[in-house]
Amino acid sequence: MASVREACTHVVGAYGLAAVCADEPGVIAVARKDSPIVVGAGETGAYVASDVIALIDATRDVVVLEDGQFAKLTPAGVEYTDEAGNVIEPKVTHIDWDLDMAEKGGYPDFMLKEIHEQPRVVRDTLVGRMTPAGELDIDELGLSLEELNDIDRVYVIACGTSYHAGLIAKNLIEGWARIPTEVEAASEFRYRNPIITPTTLVVAVSQSGETADTLAAIRDARIKGAKVFGITNVVGSPVARESDGVIYTKANKEIAVASTKSFIGQVVSLTLLALLLAQVKYRLTTKQARMLFRELSDTAEQIQWILDTQTEAVHEAALLCKDAQSALFVGRGMGAAISYEGALKLKEVSYLHAEAYAAGEMKHGPIALIDPGFPVIAVATKSATYDKTVSNLMECKARGAKVIVVATEGDEEINKIADCIIRVPAVRDVFSPITASVPLQLLAREVAILRGCDVDQPRNLAKSVTVE
Ligand code: G6P
Repeated sequence: MASVREACTHVVGAYGLAAVCADEPGVIAVARKDSPIVVGAGETGAYVASDVIALIDATRDVVVLEDGQFAKLTPAGVEYTDEAGNVIEPKVTHIDWDLDMAEKGGYPDFMLKEIHEQPRVVRDTLVGRMTPAGELDIDELGLSLEELNDIDRVYVIACGTSYHAGLIAKNLIEGWARIPTEVEAASEFRYRNPIITPTTLVVAVSQSGETADTLAAIRDARIKGAKVFGITNVVGSPVARESDGVIYTKANKEIAVASTKSFIGQVVSLTLLALLLAQVKYRLTTKQARMLFRELSDTAEQIQWILDTQTEAVHEAALLCKDAQSALFVGRGMGAAISYEGALKLKEVSYLHAEAYAAGEMKHGPIALIDPGFPVIAVATKSATYDKTVSNLMECKARGAKVIVVATEGDEEINKIADCIIRVPAVRDVFSPITASVPLQLLAREVAILRGCDVDQPRNLAKSVTVE
């Protein structure tokens, strides 16, 4: 046990560790950092796993090990110690879930479980991605740094939610790396004649890695000479196999049809790619990249804060939406991209018609929709265009809209116009999609529940679309 404790002081990164030693048979030494470890002792012995579900046949009293805690398992039971080796009394949780609930980690549905997994997805997607020297490490890159340096045009191609991750990537790649970037639905891209040269990078984003249109678009792009980079959640999937390089999103299997944790994994992965391109193009220094990487890592805790504190606010917002015929999502810049995804999520799971618009475009049409009680959901986090979005919201308010705002913690100005506020922590605007998307996922689910919908299996939709 002492050796494991000592070894852990030297280990960098996230781990869940169960070690055995030939000199001490019958002992398992367990430690963790940022990765889940669950320990339990039952009548037949002591057990360790990464998930409660693996233990419930053996014991219902489990200890979710915390960072800095150690467990020594023997056939007689478990001893828990802290970093200094002092014996501690762990917090025992009694699990009274049935098998169905156990599969859902104790949550009522997979969608909520997967939303709550997002802090872990951020951490896992970033593990090992920055070397101690501050260099980004994407070992499955498949392209040389020279090839990346030559890239002068990027197309992000994807479908559905993955397409929205692409909209966010455009802002990041153009903003940091200054490479012209277009985002296209794969079903459109494959049937037109896009301008592709050997210095074009096509980034294919696909949770399943098998969407028919995305695959066809990749094949077409390769024939035309583009380099292809895949962002996918499924190891060995067709998108991974047919791309020159790949980043895996580490969301693990996503079961709910509406994508949540995969989306966050995609945005984090695309952020890494944008940082890398910017470094290769000498647009960001190592110091800047390291600072941005640290802030990117912080979003894991920021998502957790939203999950821990905003449930009431989300419920209140859902009550304002549940009987509506239609809802409008608005935002600017990153806020617009987040709004598109928020509207899609609401449509998918609650069957409530929703449309998303760049807030500045409202006056060219959507404002005609607004009458008393019409829900307008705005992403108005602090950014350079915050005041502009607020003035758009005043126009909505003046026409009787119910204004629901995803706003930055500490922003009091928004209280004057919002009927309901869901708070998110203050983050740099480029990282706002990772935090501000979460309240909209929760909102879509809550509205769906209030309307009696099956949030995990919405009608007419499939998790992966392998035909045209
Ligand atoms: C289907 C799913 C969506 C998903 C889209 C693209 O429509 O219901 O959740 O965003 O396909 O899937 P992909 O696996 O390529 O990301």
